[in-house]
Amino acid sequence: MSKKISILELQQKKESGQPITMLTAYDYPSATLVDEAGTDIILVGDSVAMTVLGHDDTTAVTMEEMLHHCRAVKRGANHAILVGDMPFMSYQISKEEAIRNAGRFIKEAGMDTVKLEGGREISETVRAIINAGIPVMGHLGLTPQTATKLGGYKVQAKTADSAKRIMEDALALQEVGCYAIVIEAVPALVAETVTKSLHIPTIGIGAGVHCDGQVLVFHDMLGLFDRFTPKFVKRYTNLRPHILNALRSFNEEVAARQFPTQAHSFKMDEAEMELFLYGSKDSSGKTA
Ligand code: KIV
Repeated sequence: MSKKISILELQQKKESGQPITMLTAYDYPSATLVDEAGTDIILVGDSVAMTVLGHDDTTAVTMEEMLHHCRAVKRGANHAILVGDMPFMSYQISKEEAIRNAGRFIKEAGMDTVKLEGGREISETVRAIINAGIPVMGHLGLTPQTATKLGGYKVQAKTADSAKRIMEDALALQEVGCYAIVIEAVPALVAETVTKSLHIPTIGIGAGVHCDGQVLVFHDMLGLFDRFTPKFVKRYTNLRPHILNALRSFNEEVAARQFPTQAHSFKMDEAEMELFLYGSKDSSGKTA
C-alpha cells in the first residue's frame, strides 16, 4: 500500500469534500486486508469484546486485551491511521489514569491516536490527553459503553433537545482539540447539521450520507457476526456460510481419508526410504 495517511490529510479530505473511510480490525489478517483495501483509518474498536471475544456488550474488554489486539493490528497495517479504542473505565476514573492509559496505546501498541466515548462530561479528560501529545477521536450519539444509561441500543437525538445536546457536545470536543468525531445512530439531518457546524471531520455510523466519512465494523460488513445486525449495517458479503462449508468439507474429507492427497504430502529420497524401512547400508552401499 501507499504511504501512511496523516491526520492533516483527513482534514484536507473534509475541506475538499472527499469522503473518509474507516473500518475496524482486531488482528493481523484483518488489518492486512483493511489496509490493503486502501482504508483511511483502522479502528481497533472495543467492539472486539462482542465480535471476537463473545461478550454480550463492549464493557467487558480490558486494557490488556485491547493492547494485545492493537499490537497485532499494528503488525499488519502500513497505510491507515491506527486508532485504539479506550475501553470502559480506562479514562473515567481520573485524568491522570486516562493519560497513562492513552499513552499505553501509543507506546506499547503502536497506535497513532485513541478514541473515547462521550461529550462535555469527558471534554476536560480529552483536553488533558491531547495536551499530553496524543491525538483524540471523539464518539457521540449511541455510545455503546453507556448504552444501558441511554436506554439500550437505540437511535439517539430524536428530539430537538437531545439533538441540540449532541451539537453542543460536538462543539465542545472540537474546542478541546479532537481531530475527528464518530457520530453513531442519530437521524441523518442531525448528523448533517453537526457536520456542517464543525471544521473537523465527522465519521458516521448509522448517521446518514452527509458525514465527512463512514465507518463499519469488519465482522458486520462481512457477515461474520450474526447475533444481531443493526439497521445501519450493510453486509457487503456473507462469509459465514462459505467458511462453514469449507470447515464441514475438511471434516468430511478427513473422515473419508480424502485429505491429505499426494499433492499435500512429502516424499522421501528412495535410498533413504530403503534404509529407513530395511536397515543400514554395507560398505558397498548395499542395504544390509
Ligand atoms: O468499537 C467500535 O467498533 C466502534 C465503532 C462502532 C465506531 O466504536
